[in-house]
This record gives sequence, C-alpha cells and structure tokens, in this order.
Amino acid sequence: MEDRVFIFDTTLRDGEQSPGCSMNFEEKIRMARQIQLLCVDVIEAGFPISSVGDFESVRLIAEKIKTCTVAALARAVKADIDRAWEAIREAAKPRIHIFIATSDLHLKYKLKKSREQVLKDAIWAVQYAKSLCDDIEFSCEDASRSDIIYLCEIVEATIKAGATIINLPDTVGYAIPDEYGAMFRMIRERVPNIGSAVLSSHCHNDLGLAVANSIAAIQNGARQVECTINGIGERAGNASLEEIVMALKVRKDICNYYTDINVSEIYNTSRMVSGFTGMIVQPNKAIVGENAFAHESGIHQDGMLKNKQTYEIMTPESVGVNKTKIVLGRHSGRHGLKVRLNELGYHVTESEIKKVYEAFLELADKKKEVFDDDLRVLMGDEIFKEEELYELEYMHVNAGTNTIPTATVRIKTKENALQESSTGDGPVDAVFNAIERALGIKPTVESYNVRSVTSGRQALGESIIRIRSGENSFTGRGTSTDIIEASAKAFLQAINQYLIFTNTKIELTENGIAIK
Ligand code: KIV
Ligand code: ZN
Repeated sequence: MEDRVFIFDTTLRDGEQSPGCSMNFEEKIRMARQIQLLCVDVIEAGFPISSVGDFESVRLIAEKIKTCTVAALARAVKADIDRAWEAIREAAKPRIHIFIATSDLHLKYKLKKSREQVLKDAIWAVQYAKSLCDDIEFSCEDASRSDIIYLCEIVEATIKAGATIINLPDTVGYAIPDEYGAMFRMIRERVPNIGSAVLSSHCHNDLGLAVANSIAAIQNGARQVECTINGIGERAGNASLEEIVMALKVRKDICNYYTDINVSEIYNTSRMVSGFTGMIVQPNKAIVGENAFAHESGIHQDGMLKNKQTYEIMTPESVGVNKTKIVLGRHSGRHGLKVRLNELGYHVTESEIKKVYEAFLELADKKKEVFDDDLRVLMGDEIFKEEELYELEYMHVNAGTNTIPTATVRIKTKENALQESSTGDGPVDAVFNAIERALGIKPTVESYNVRSVTSGRQALGESIIRIRSGENSFTGRGTSTDIIEASAKAFLQAINQYLIFTNTKIELTENGIAIK
C-alpha cells in the first residue's frame, strides 16, 4: 500500500526571509490562499517574534486559511513561543514549530551552551508549547552535522515532552542522499518512542542536493517534507516543492508514496511566487522553468511528433502549463478579465476589479495584446502594492548619441512633491542621481538587473535593484514598458524599504532636506 507524504510549505517563512524574496502584507495573504489551493498540508506562515509585520501577516493567514495547518516558528524560548501562539491561536489547525541547534559547532560558537543545557531548553520549550497547542513540531537545527547519539537523546526526550513532528534539517545543505537517508533510518531504529511522532525532512540546496536528500529521507521513513515553491530560500534555497511532488508522482513505480497536492496548480503558484518576490525562475528549472517542456532539436521534435513519451516524462498540462496562449486586448471586458485572472489563481473581489480593470486598460493601450504573464505582473506589481512613502510621479529623460544624459524626476510624498534634475553616465544613472538629489540620500547599489518579463517587442520590462546599508540590504522592483521608468520605480521602492526599516523620515526644511 502506498504511504502518504505530508507537504509542509515554508515559502512564506524560510523562502520569504531570504534576501530579495520579501513580499508585502497583501502579497503574503494572496500567496497563502494560492498555497491553500495547491492543497499543501501545512503552511509555515512566518516567524512572529522577528517583526511586527511578520506577526501581523501570520495572524491574518491563521485567520483566513481554513483547510491547511498554519505553523509559526519559534526559538526554544518563552517570548518566541508566546508570540507564535498569539499569532496562530485563531487558526483552524494551529501548529507551533520550535527549533534549537543540536550540532556541537552551533552549540559551541552560536549558542555557547552545553549539550545538557540545550536538551533542557528543548524539553522545557516543547512542554510549555504543548500546554498551549496540541500540534507541536520540534526541529533539531543542523541535525545532519549533529552527533547521532545526542540527536537520538534529544529526539526521544522531545517526543516524550509532547512533540508530534520531529524535523531533522540539513540546515547548511551539506549532506549527501545516502548519508541523510541513513540518519532517518538510525533515528527510527534507535529511538524507542519514534512511533509517536511523524519524521520530517528539511533540506537546503547548497550542493544542489536538496530534492535528492528529501527523497532519500522519504525512502527512509520521513512522512513530512518541508519545501518551498520554486525552491526559494536562504542562500542556494530550499528543496523545491514542485520537484519533490512530481518526482514522487512520475516515479511512483519505485517511490510508492502519494501527496495530496493539486498538481495542476503548480505552475500558477510558481508564477505567483516569482511575480511577488521578483525572484526569477531560471529558464531550465525543472517543472516550472520556461524551457522545461520546450523541445528544440530536430531529433527531439521528430520523436515528440511520433510519440510524446519519447522525450516527455510528464505533460506540461499536468502541472498547469497552458500551451495555448490566451490573449486579452483593450476590447476585452471586465468579466473576461476577471474570469482569466481567476484561472490564473488571482481572486479579485468586485471592489478590486475596478482598479484592476483600469490598470489593464492602461496596459492594453500601450501593448495591444495582453498575455497571461502581463496579467501576473500587473497583479504582482501595480495593483496591490502597499502605499509607498515616496512614489514616482513624473520623469523626463534626455539621452542619445553624443549628448549628456539628463533626467528630471518629481517624487510624490504624502504631503507634497520633490523635484530634482541631474546628469549621469547614462539615462538610468541620470535618473538615479536625480532621485538621490531629491531625497538627499546616496545608497550603495549592490545589484541592478533589467529583463523583459513578458513577450513581444512591447514586452513589459522589469527592473530589480538591491541597495545596501550596513548589514542590511533592501530590494525594489518596478515594471513598465519603458525600462528606464521601471528602473526608477525599482530604485525608489528599494529606498522606501530602507527608509521604512530605519524609520528615517525625510522632511523639507528651509535650507533643503533633513533626514530624521
Ligand atoms: O534550515 C533550518 O534548519 C531551518 C529550521 C529553523 C527548521 O529552517
Ligand atoms: Zn531552513
């Protein structure tokens, strides 16, 4: 008989916390709804103690999500557990997820605690969390580099204390499949009460082995896998949900397990994550990359025409990739737009559709043909963005061969507008200089990218910029059919993030600008 594998999605926690992947409040709620539609078993919504914003989004997700368990992360300390519980207590199915490091390396250098002390902390934390919530997951951070005897001891003790799920992460993506699988086998063989808990895997992709390690864990007794859509996450990312799920499905002949995932929602969910985070999916990415189902060579095309199975191990349709492109235009009605958005996983209310339709018509005027990817960008960037401190109201650029590029920008603030001009090494540099002069700040640009996100010569251009201030970096994203405007919007959004983070307020004074 086939065994069920539970899917624990941590896109909104381990995924979202990594650089360049942040989502705003509205985007997180929409994302959680889409992940629910994908039918995952658990949504890890965030780490409530980490910020007020994270707490609020976990709380709202817990309130809105009805069919999945909603988990909140906490360190093994009272303040974290209380905050996590406060955020998820209204959920239909709440789970507190506690973690503490178990490797000697982490104990010595990070926690500066003995094994005995960590064991005590873990037992106490699980017991305390259990007094609040029935469903308790306990994670041994850096399990794959921990001493197996100590690992068995802490696993046994935390199950006794009330943990129902035991997660053994490969936190730094160091393990190889045989080794990671063996750890699960040993835990099952050596921990007497292991039958009272579900074993879980959580793999990072530093060596590109996260999915292979997750499958090895399943083959050795894990019945929950932790993963993210598109594999987003810290450093090289987490194990990719879509790859694990499809590997189990396509290779059922040797992996006789099933998940409850609604695989036809995979593609929509992947595009939504990419649209909201601005994290580009590499074209050759398995399952959801643009080329995942493209057949270029003559021999392959010939084989495909004769029998698709020659070069296709799953159909694009099975994961929700629609090969027939549906095109909308300026004559498309509001109803048609709403239906298409629904099919793409975006559920807009009657009051929202008015705003969406206006933005759609504006885009259709510029582009004539509006493709699905245009709609995704529209939904991701323009419609539900949160109110910004500073917004680009107007921009004029003069550039060309043998001319000095100059730019003028007007930036709308809550109370008034700031206007400035500047020259630069190119049109983008001129715009950035003008923005910096208007706001009186000069951030370090760490990375700057421009790409086309939709098709055709009138494609929407997307710009992603990362700026740095000390330890922290801030990402901004902007789209437009004009890539200089897209860059200006992205730069301003990154600055907004930075200013919100530092609580800096720019005010006009008699002699210019003051930063408070
Ligand atoms: O990678 C890791 O160890 C984690 C834990 C907090 C579960 O993300
Ligand atoms: Zn992790």
